[in-house]
Amino acid sequence: MSLTVADGRLDVSSLRHDFPILGRTVRNGNPLVYLDSGATSQKPVQVLDAEREFYEKHNAAVHRGAHLLAEEATDAYEASRSTIAAFIGASADEIVFTKNATEALNLVAFAFGTATALWEHGSGPGPDEDRFVLRPGDEIAVTEFEHHANLVPWQELCRRTGAVLRVITITEGGRLDSASLAAVICERTRVVAFTHQSNVLGTVLPVDQVVAAARAVGALVVLDACQSVPHQKVNVAELGVDLLAFSGHKMLGPTGIGVLWGRNSLLNSMPPFLTGGSMIETVWQYESTFAMAPQRFEAGVPMAAQAVGLAAACDYLESVGLDRITNHEQELTALALAELGAIPGLRVLGPTDTDARGGAVAFTVDGIHPHDVGQLLDDRGIAVRVGHHCAWPLHRRLDAVASTRASFYLYNEASEVHALADGVRAAIKYFGAS
Ligand code: ALA
Repeated sequence: MSLTVADGRLDVSSLRHDFPILGRTVRNGNPLVYLDSGATSQKPVQVLDAEREFYEKHNAAVHRGAHLLAEEATDAYEASRSTIAAFIGASADEIVFTKNATEALNLVAFAFGTATALWEHGSGPGPDEDRFVLRPGDEIAVTEFEHHANLVPWQELCRRTGAVLRVITITEGGRLDSASLAAVICERTRVVAFTHQSNVLGTVLPVDQVVAAARAVGALVVLDACQSVPHQKVNVAELGVDLLAFSGHKMLGPTGIGVLWGRNSLLNSMPPFLTGGSMIETVWQYESTFAMAPQRFEAGVPMAAQAVGLAAACDYLESVGLDRITNHEQELTALALAELGAIPGLRVLGPTDTDARGGAVAFTVDGIHPHDVGQLLDDRGIAVRVGHHCAWPLHRRLDAVASTRASFYLYNEASEVHALADGVRAAIKYFGAS
């Protein structure tokens, strides 16, 4: 069935015109086949125009200055916060702008570290911050799926505080292991940090199960939603997690902006991360008090043009329809799993059906290093990611030194999946690996 019919489904060939970069040719004059949206997405003119207009007409440092431009820039920045909040079913005072999701996750880990240090030195924390104190024997749980951005900050927090890192394992089929979840989460667990959707396997994790297990022991739940917010309708009220992070650049928005979502009361109980201008309430020579969230976490002149661009990206995704995007990606993923799965010597990592699975398809090919597969695909104009995709422990768990990953988005077409499969077959032939 065509993916471009206008019966409530995506009209991909039309919307591709919104993305100037998709019209260019690349290596050897080939048209670009961009299958690396898991790493970063391409940008529609609506986002590019919004950023350009901000710089051309309204640019000023926000939350400073008494002049008209400062007022317009501040209004644009705060209106963007409201748009982005609505996109995930939140309110504006629950949205903290960060550089990216990595920074947002580090912000949370550092809140625990700071509260614990204050407690150890007898200089606090205040009663609200107490829930972020890690005491001897406390544990932090992550999963084997985690991207380094949701693993290394917790490893480092454990190193600084003496907390113990526990790992919930995955099944052979690339799903969360419920038995391991039940075994790892216990009365000592203070934080459960996990990904909503694996950036390697595409697996969508059962958030409700993990939240229920965490709630039963009073642990805070931190969700890395980098790979879900761009691709499926995410509503924070329905998810039931405590804190959630995502990046703008993976969802048609600019680089340099990410979001930490948390309930306002929880954010206000967290010690600040970066300190300096804008995040203060009062500053004296030897001590300071801090503003309420979200300003509490937005030290320095913030990324206003990027916020405006990200709001434009949210508007664009809403206008296309998240459900349509999810369905479209499911069709492409089903096609990729069928075509790649039929190639002898090719192993798809993770789930081989589209149930609770997003559009990242990582694979290995017997006898060919993923970097070589990637290079031969690039010769044909096909952009994929190769390596361990910032998930090295996951690759070790899967007995893969690395993998080749294709990842799909709303602008991809079935013909590009065929091109990928043709390219892999040609690589196998080239290397005589069949
Ligand atoms: N986290 C991004 C990826 O999976 C960069 O490629």
